[in-house]
Amino acid sequence: MKALITSGGRGTRLRPITHTKNKHLIPIANKPILHYAIDYLRDAGITDIGVVYSADSREVPDRLGDGSQFGVSLTHIPQEAPLGLAHVVKISQSFIGAEPFVFYLGDNMVVGGIQRFVDAFQAAGSNCHLTLAKVKDPERFGVPELDGDRIVGIEEKPTHPKSKYAVAGIYLYDSSIFEACHAIEPSARGELEISDAHQWLLTNGRQVTYSEITGWWKDTGKPIDLLEANRLVLEHLPAQQDGYVDPKSALFGNVVVEEGAEVINSVIRGPAIIGKRTKVTDSYVGPFTSIYHDCTVRGSEIEYSIVLAGCQILDVHTRIEGSLLGDEVELVRAADKPRVNRFMLSDQSRVEIV
Ligand code: DAU
Repeated sequence: MKALITSGGRGTRLRPITHTKNKHLIPIANKPILHYAIDYLRDAGITDIGVVYSADSREVPDRLGDGSQFGVSLTHIPQEAPLGLAHVVKISQSFIGAEPFVFYLGDNMVVGGIQRFVDAFQAAGSNCHLTLAKVKDPERFGVPELDGDRIVGIEEKPTHPKSKYAVAGIYLYDSSIFEACHAIEPSARGELEISDAHQWLLTNGRQVTYSEITGWWKDTGKPIDLLEANRLVLEHLPAQQDGYVDPKSALFGNVVVEEGAEVINSVIRGPAIIGKRTKVTDSYVGPFTSIYHDCTVRGSEIEYSIVLAGCQILDVHTRIEGSLLGDEVELVRAADKPRVNRFMLSDQSRVEIV
């Protein structure tokens, strides 16, 4: 079995972070989102993996390399423009050949890996095996129509969803999916929709089965989804202390202090992770916070947040919460008179002030 992972698309809902960084490389619990997909596939015994990337940037191929760091072999497949998920499948046909494969949307996170879906697909012997998750807002997703335990229809982002389920971004196929992707036409938004390919399989008498995802699953399309995915991953992370924690500091619950990190005169209430070479001094870091590598947090309080590489949070006297800071952001207390709020924000930044 082979696999295909997506890492293209536009990432518009995560601007401004995605102006400079591919969203699939944003770390969740200090590990880039894409690495979870690769690790899950490898753990299910799938090591021949194609990664489809947006042809206008080499960031993903450059960061992932040939896959040897993960114990897999990666083939990088450029996509000229984000023309839809069925287009991604179409351009990958020569890489996949005649083998069955897992199609994994690189921005999806699921707890517990994917072995159970591979097993269910093989046991069913179907042409297409979908994963369904119950959600509050099915209109954001591909939505199945069910008759008992049979899928009888699939619609993409319907105004009036016919069930409470989303089709999650982990699909298992045999080669009939290529026939479907070649047969369909672009949708009103100009994309070749994977839901239309699934509907084509149903209409043309192919067998479409499914597994229900009963744990958690997240499509990390929006900032709140990233914070929630971060919370859920941190909840499962065991404590580990590889950095230095001074005797005046206190760690509660599951806290990871990565190599080269320093925690000085501070309180960290887990689950939380402090990245490599990051220094936390005279501060409070609360639950569900991931601070990435090479940051400085001094005289400040932060919780339920994701902080990316090289950030400086210095003497900020209001607690920071529910926040997502991109690389090398500086949040500092105004030193000079007049004591005012001063902003230097990039396009499409968002600040909430009390
Ligand atoms: O997350 C599950 C949902 O994913 C499904 O329920 C929907 O049926 C499916 O269409 C998809 O919807 P999204 O609107 O979330 O798709 P998005 O455009 O965010 O793209 C999903 C992934 O595929 C993401 O990793 C970006 C990548 N992508 C997307 C397109 C359209 C590409 O690599 N190339 C593309 O052309």
